[in-house]
This record gives sequence, structure tokens and C-alpha cells, in this order.
Amino acid sequence: MAIETSKVGAGIRGQFPIFEHTTYANSCSQGVLSHHVRAAYEEYLDGWDANGAEWEVWVERADAARAAFARLLRADTSELAVTTSVTQGVSGIVSALDLRARPRIVISEYEFPTVGQIAHAQELRGAEVVHVRPEADGSIPPERFAEAIDERTALVCCTTVSYRTGHRHDVAEIARLAHEAGALCLADSYQAIGAIDFDAHGMGVDLVTGGTVKYLLGSSGLGFLYVRRELLPQLLPSQTGWFADEDIFQMDISDYSPAADARRFDAGTPPVPNIYAGLAGMSIVEEAGTAAIEQHVAGLTARLIAGLDELGAVVVTPRAADRRGPLVCVKSTDVRTLVDTLDAARIVCSERDSNLRISLHLYNVDEDVDTILEALRRHRHLLA
Ligand SMILES: Cc1ncc(COP(=O)(O)O)c(C=O)c1O
Repeated sequence: MAIETSKVGAGIRGQFPIFEHTTYANSCSQGVLSHHVRAAYEEYLDGWDANGAEWEVWVERADAARAAFARLLRADTSELAVTTSVTQGVSGIVSALDLRARPRIVISEYEFPTVGQIAHAQELRGAEVVHVRPEADGSIPPERFAEAIDERTALVCCTTVSYRTGHRHDVAEIARLAHEAGALCLADSYQAIGAIDFDAHGMGVDLVTGGTVKYLLGSSGLGFLYVRRELLPQLLPSQTGWFADEDIFQMDISDYSPAADARRFDAGTPPVPNIYAGLAGMSIVEEAGTAAIEQHVAGLTARLIAGLDELGAVVVTPRAADRRGPLVCVKSTDVRTLVDTLDAARIVCSERDSNLRISLHLYNVDEDVDTILEALRRHRHLLA
């Protein structure tokens, strides 16, 4: 079946003013501002100006964000918490683990700092953190996870796409291995959500987290935590707040009575301005459709990798389309200078380790890839 592509590439680019003067390939850090998101912020301000506290609207908007996250994950709304960050979601989850019974937390070497740091903070509660390191080619096959997971393991953290190298984990298989040992599997999917077609139930993963800053085209301060519904009765976070209560408006300080669904992982007052922006950003992604976005981005990354091969560059990201996402990393001899040099030519990329990070999204087009390749050809000496 042909996928409708008019809401990707040239068909959507006019929504994003930055492309009038800049080649933007840094959505792995921050997605591009659209007219739609700007208008959403104005709508928030207009409501505040006209009515002051709009409590009921705010709660309704938070629930609308919950529903949008659920659709993007092909999950049920009852399985989603609305958070301010990945940090909040992961902290809530580890606070629900019984580390006396199962002290081990397994983390991939590709976890974002916040995940690794939260895991190690649990050492204060008796946790033992085991790192799963990459092979010489940079991949971390499920077998490496299997070696680290045992019957004392509570949680396995395998980010979906590495923010450092663009490697995509086989989350479904890692989740299966975790389950075999009775452990839970958490996939931080910040570098994937919005750019790849996601199916949380299909993957069999227990917990998924991410946020709106990158491929969901919103701004900072809004994230989500998916909790597979079968786990809800057993996961009681001790890190909590009044918006996680079974009845927010009861204002009851006499006990801990969390919501029955994943809202038990919400916390304090919802990040209302960010929700306005996030809803607008997610509506662009949803209208384009994540299957169409993934297909469009796969075409762009394939073109980019072919061009990098022609330059004889060292591509760090795997070649197989199912082992990568929207981020392509290439080795540099002096990555700081390379990023600055590209920036001076109004080409925005970023860096991690000694890799140039080039990330592509629904609004990028073939010409962006060619502009980047042409600039890299001119500065070939800055590539390894
Ligand atoms: C993979 C990944 N996880 C998490 C984060 C951010 O976490 P938080 O929302 O807690 O700031 C980022 C980027 O900022 C990221 O790339």
C-alpha cells in the first residue's frame, strides 16, 4: 500500500521558518519550531490573559497529551503518565522497585546520562548496577544483555536508539530476555519517538519513556512514561505527588492512594505551557503519520550514508535499516571544529564523543542531505 507522503518533506517544510536560511540536521537535540507550536504558545497566553487560572482546561490538556502519547505508542491512555522529563519517569519507576528482593539494575552503555545516574543513585538503596558494553563494531547484541541479566535483576535499561552513535537496540528481544529472568525492561525512546513507527505492545517492552523536545516537535518540560497495563497493580512509586492521586481534587493529606492507572506516575502541577506546545508538535507528527515519517527518514539516511561512503568517511551508525533510526554519526578528527565550521555555513549538526551527529526528520529533504555532503566534501580533512 502506498504511503501518503504529502505531509513530509517539501509538503510540510513551509511550517518551519528556520529552513528559509538554515540547513537544520539537529533534531536529536531539539526539533524545529513550527508556526503551529508558536500559535499554541500564544493560545496558552491568551487563555491566561483572558481568564487567569484555567484549571479545568489545564487538566483536560494534560489528558489530551496523555492520549496523544498513547496513540504514538499504540498503547492505551490508561498506560501513560504525563511527566516533565525522562528523569521523572525513570525516577518514579526505580522508586517502585523492591531492590531488596532483586538488587540488580542492568544498563546499556548507550543510556543517556540521566538513566545511568539514576541507576547508580540506587546504590544508596543497595542496588548493584551492571553495564552492558558494546562490541568492537559498536553494536550491543541481545546476547550481551543475556550475560548480565540474572534472577536477581529488577530492571534492564536499553535505550531504543543511542544518542551517541545512532545504534538501535533489538528492544523486543532484550525485553524477552528480561522477562525470562523475571525482570522488567525499560526503553528510553527519546531518540526514536516521532521519527519511527512505534508499537509498545508489539515490542513486548514493559516501560517506555521519552519527551517532546526532539522528534515530537515541542519544547522542553514535557515527557511521558508508558507502563504496560499488567504491571500497574504491582508498581507503586514512592516518588509521587498530588497529580498522581486517585482523586486530585480531594486534596486529602491523610494517606497514599495513587491512581489505579499509569497516572500514578504523574507528579505535581502539569507543565501547562509545554503541554500546549507538545500537543501542537505531536499533531504535526500524527498528521504526517509515523510510518510515513519513518519511510521518509530512511530514504534520507540511506542517501546520506551512500554519500559518506563516497567520501570514504567512517560511518559509526549501522548500515542495516532496522538497526538505526533518524540519527547518523560519522567519525571526525576534530569534531568541535567541524560543528563550528558547518555552523558558520548555516548547517546545524551536533557532536557526541568524536562523532558528528546528523539527524533527519520529516521536514528534511534530499537537498539538505546534499548540502551537508557538499560541506563535508569541502572539509574532508575534518573527517576520520
Ligand atoms: C536518549 C535521551 N534520554 C533522555 C534525554 C533527556 O532526559 P530528560 O527529559 O530527563 O532531560 C535525552 C535528551 O536530552 C535523550 O537523548
